[in-house]
Amino acid sequence: MSTAAPTVPVVDGIPFARAGREELRAEVAGRLAAGEVDRARVALLADADDWWTEPPPPPEQLARVPAATTLREAMGLLGMGRVADYFAHRWSDPTHLAGLALLQQHWPGRRPVVDVACGIGTHLRELARRGCTDLLGVDVVWAKLWLARRFVCSTARYVCADVTTAPDLGVQPPAYVLCHDAFYFLRDKPAAAAAMRALAGNGGTVVVGHAHVADPHGAPLTPEGYAAVLGTDLLYDDAELTTALLAGRAPRPAAAADLHSSEAVALVAGDPCSPAQADLGEPLPPLRPNLLYVDGELCWPSERYAAEYGPRSAYLPARWPDPLPPDAARRRLLVDLPEAW
Ligand SMILES: C[S@@+](CC[C@H](N)C(=O)[O-])C[C@H]1O[C@@H](n2cnc3c(N)ncnc32)[C@H](O)[C@@H]1O
Repeated sequence: MSTAAPTVPVVDGIPFARAGREELRAEVAGRLAAGEVDRARVALLADADDWWTEPPPPPEQLARVPAATTLREAMGLLGMGRVADYFAHRWSDPTHLAGLALLQQHWPGRRPVVDVACGIGTHLRELARRGCTDLLGVDVVWAKLWLARRFVCSTARYVCADVTTAPDLGVQPPAYVLCHDAFYFLRDKPAAAAAMRALAGNGGTVVVGHAHVADPHGAPLTPEGYAAVLGTDLLYDDAELTTALLAGRAPRPAAAADLHSSEAVALVAGDPCSPAQADLGEPLPPLRPNLLYVDGELCWPSERYAAEYGPRSAYLPARWPDPLPPDAARRRLLVDLPEAW
């Protein structure tokens, strides 16, 4: 009986090792063997995560994605809908700022970084621009990794897989394993936590950001539940992280028992590392005006986005201020967007 591992097809440098997609894997491998790279890519671009409810766009539309010249054009062709709004404006939302505050306080330094459920690589881009060189993004959605590599952070490596069933990712421990705004989605949290700990290795670090508590989306745990599954008592309130980044101060940790009414929490397990020397609250130039402002007014991209982020984005004033305040960059009136945004 053969015990050979199943083929992991690679298109545009991104291996497709997602478990539970054996038919798609076989189809892609077959297309590659026949020299049909474009059709293999279209098949991969049509695959979505288990929470997504929309049908994929027609293949003719997906075939046009590689010719897109901007991130937003590509996301439009991919039919990403509300997720596209969220990714396009990630650079100024309070959840992303909370993630930056965590990185600020617990900086990976020279360690290899694995961003689990990295989406389009927003955090990887920040890490790369701040000098980290050994970067790996893992996500179950191949299309998001394709966007990350093409438009957001081309210097990272990417592997399409679920962290619990990923093949050997070739990470040299001790590593810094990050999972932001996604851990609450993962159905088997003990397995995911164990896989992240194994990736981090002895002396490594596991950082989980924006894990839903009071926010019911996904499959949230209590703060104590997250603390137990990750084996740590170093927790933060997500709103405190955002506030700390905006104020340019260190975030204050909190006890799990005090975080029950938090919308979301963050946790750091293993070596907590040291704070970054750089100030991640100050985005790196070149900076551009935040394109949430249209004709001088703050315009949310959708009602859903407004409901989720509006109440937590008081740092963005309703009208574009003229003159700009000295802290315009810190408050993300000016943002550090990818070149081909
Ligand atoms: C809300 S997004 C967050 C993306 C990114 N971490 C960020 O902060 O911008 C959640 C991500 O989790 C990914 N995801 C969902 N289930 C996953 C799983 N089992 N393994 C890996 N990624 C998963 C989705 O594809 C999506 O990119």
